[in-house]
Amino acid sequence: MKIIGKAVAYCLLGFLVLLVAFNLWGYLTLGNLTPIMPGQLADSANRVVMVFGATGSVGDGLLKAAIEAPEVEKVYVVTRRSSPRIDAGVASGKVEMHLQEDFTDYSELADTLAEVDTVLWGLGTTSIGMDDATYTKIHVDFPLAFVSQWMVARKDINRPMSFHFVTGMGTDPQGSQHWAREKGRTELALAALAEGTNLRSFSYRSGFVRPTSEQSNTAIYIAEKLLRPGKLVITGKQLGEAMLEISARTREVPNGTLIDNGDSIAFAEAYEQR
Ligand SMILES: NC(=O)c1ccc[n+]([C@@H]2O[C@H](COP(=O)([O-])OP(=O)(O)OC[C@H]3O[C@@H](n4cnc5c(N)ncnc54)[C@H](OP(=O)(O)O)[C@@H]3O)[C@@H](O)[C@H]2O)c1
Repeated sequence: MKIIGKAVAYCLLGFLVLLVAFNLWGYLTLGNLTPIMPGQLADSANRVVMVFGATGSVGDGLLKAAIEAPEVEKVYVVTRRSSPRIDAGVASGKVEMHLQEDFTDYSELADTLAEVDTVLWGLGTTSIGMDDATYTKIHVDFPLAFVSQWMVARKDINRPMSFHFVTGMGTDPQGSQHWAREKGRTELALAALAEGTNLRSFSYRSGFVRPTSEQSNTAIYIAEKLLRPGKLVITGKQLGEAMLEISARTREVPNGTLIDNGDSIAFAEAYEQR
């Protein structure tokens, strides 16, 4: 009995040490971008927004931000299925849902794509239990196919466009893990595709993205509290707000900028101070 008690105490102590170290690391290293205040915002940068992955934990928050943003007039959701938030958005008239089977072929959406100013991409999934080829298809082929076809569909080549891609903390084109390398490869390829055009592409190396209240529970709220001191957590809605803010700051944040979790928090705060 005594041994079990000791083992539990050591485990708890180890967890606490790790938690403090991780928070300290985040506090000292995250958040390298400081939004200029007041920011110069392009008024119509987010008039029409398209959301991918809206049925997921991250994407539900991105969709919430887009629906609640007064500057967003129309939200297109491209998805395999609906969700309560998509249904409510469609009922309100602000959201239009497109059911998509093949996420590499957007030929049927060309006219819609021509209208879109901003894309919030929360489509993606865990690498656990997934073979490398499928992981690559979802996290490399899908976003690159979309952006290539979006660029062809645009009619006004001078209108600002922005693509916001959620990759995650630990993404690294030279990393030792397949998922990190593949997401890193996509970050670089997206920035290269956009270079010299009116498109800016941003990758968000987010920490823990706390789901919306509808998808959260007590354990999730405890995790949020434990990770907040190190800027290791952001809510999905705040992440969406950071994306809209970065979109609107057309002259401030250049194509290809990697946005860490501290940066996202700072731009979400700038959005909330508008
Ligand atoms: N959650 C976090 O804290 C966090 C933090 C940092 C980065 N990220 C990254 O953010 C991305 C989304 O994570 P999540 O936690 O929101 O995942 P999730 O809850 O599993 O949601 C995944 C979303 O992507 C869609 N999706 C997945 N596979 C698809 C496929 N083959 N074809 C079409 N749609 C597909 C899902 O659509 P269906 O509903 O139709 O399956 C869903 O909308 C991932 O890349 C993840 O690594 C997440």
